[in-house]
Amino acid sequence: MDSLPRAQVTVTTLQKMKQRSEKIAVVTSYDASFTTLLERAKVDVILVGDSLGMVVQGRDSTVGVSMDDMVYHCACVARGGESALRIADFPFMSYSSVDQALENAAKLMREGQAHMVKLEGGEVNLKSVEAITGFGVPVCGHLGLLPQSVNKLGGYRVQGRDDASAQQLISDARALEAAGAALLVLECVPVDLARQVTEALTIPTIGIGAGVDCDGQVLVLYDLLGITPGKRPSFSRNFLAGQSDIQSALVSYVQAVKASEFPAKEHGFS
Ligand code: KIV
Repeated sequence: MDSLPRAQVTVTTLQKMKQRSEKIAVVTSYDASFTTLLERAKVDVILVGDSLGMVVQGRDSTVGVSMDDMVYHCACVARGGESALRIADFPFMSYSSVDQALENAAKLMREGQAHMVKLEGGEVNLKSVEAITGFGVPVCGHLGLLPQSVNKLGGYRVQGRDDASAQQLISDARALEAAGAALLVLECVPVDLARQVTEALTIPTIGIGAGVDCDGQVLVLYDLLGITPGKRPSFSRNFLAGQSDIQSALVSYVQAVKASEFPAKEHGFS
């Protein structure tokens, strides 16, 4: 690990990485200390995910997470931040109208010091994505398994397995890109579908349970370290196993993503 300062990662950096087929390493973080370790491991992007509702707050879903929670954790992460691009999740129902989305995007950017905001869903969000990007805030979409919709979905299940839902996902992905999204998370979708979406878009895709062909990968920090209470998701890997400390585990994750060694076949769905 060298100590040379790294240039700030921006949306342009990520775009160029896709063009060069250079994999993008993303990890979630919720506090300053872990963020410092992630910066040292040279992750490209840090996601302040509303998964904090489950891994930090002990809830059984992300639905209970508030805007105040998100702003608080984003500000903590920003204090440990250096050059990685920081994405802040909009929590449940905090972007249900264009006006609300604009107001909350401003909070995440101004008070949370995020560089980008992320929202779950396709068609329903297009006007908000256009409006937010129109005011100069980069947006990351999120398709496939939408944890905020767990009550509608009836559980945490792989999405896009039948033809109709796969076509809908591709159409949503194209529409989000056309509306101005700069990045797209694909969660728990078949490997072939994630590859099709990745090839169809000019913006980078970041997979979680979506196979190795996405432009980058994201894992929830606690899954990556094997400290998530309960069962580890089958698409994740415990990178702390076999390592002597957390810093080495994070470096090992970044290297595995960059070398397309993670995710392996057994971490994907068909
Ligand atoms: O909240 C989160 O951590 C996320 C990832 C699962 C992509 O949205």
